[in-house]
Amino acid sequence: MRLGFLASHTGTNMQAVLDACREGRLRATACVMISNNREAEALERARRAGLAVHHLSAATHPDADRLDKAIRDALVAAGAEMVILAGYMKKLGPRTLARYRGRVLNIHPALLPRFGGQGMYGARVHEAVLAAGERETGVSIHVVDEEYDHGPILAQCRVPVLGGDTAASLATRVLAREHTFLVETLARVVSGDLRLP
Ligand code: GRF
Repeated sequence: MRLGFLASHTGTNMQAVLDACREGRLRATACVMISNNREAEALERARRAGLAVHHLSAATHPDADRLDKAIRDALVAAGAEMVILAGYMKKLGPRTLARYRGRVLNIHPALLPRFGGQGMYGARVHEAVLAAGERETGVSIHVVDEEYDHGPILAQCRVPVLGGDTAASLATRVLAREHTFLVETLARVVSGDLRLP
């Protein structure tokens, strides 16, 4: 399975997958990484791992349709069969979604369908979970459609909310679980144990 990534910032989830591929824990090959942010640490991580890397954004392609085509073409040229949004802050365009319909996954740091959607990212997610008085939160991996955090849920796992948690402490606990859960879930997809909806 050849994997393409889109990420906007740090890229620790992508790194977890790259490490698992390198160490033979995941039978997949990471082939391309695209970021809308030329400063993203994720780009450097991908470069170090030998992936094709691209900065593609409204800065490089002011026309949205051309940007969509460029993203699709970069994924196709690298031979990506599945695409992982690993902290990607933009929506995919219709051309990319049509080419990879049902094969784009997003990871979200809460139990969707709650605590997701436009504007629900980073600390805001964990602040909302704490404000709602939840006793547990979790990680969701879902198939991407036209809406933020919206497509069919593929897999979820739970993470406890502990007394005294702050958004930062909760974020740290959830992110650590994201790293293992993303790799576990991709391994199940690759083995055929988990079918994409
Ligand atoms: C993760 O919390 C992920 O669930 C969300 O964005 C964050 C990305 O973190 N979509 P990183 O860049 O992988 O460290």
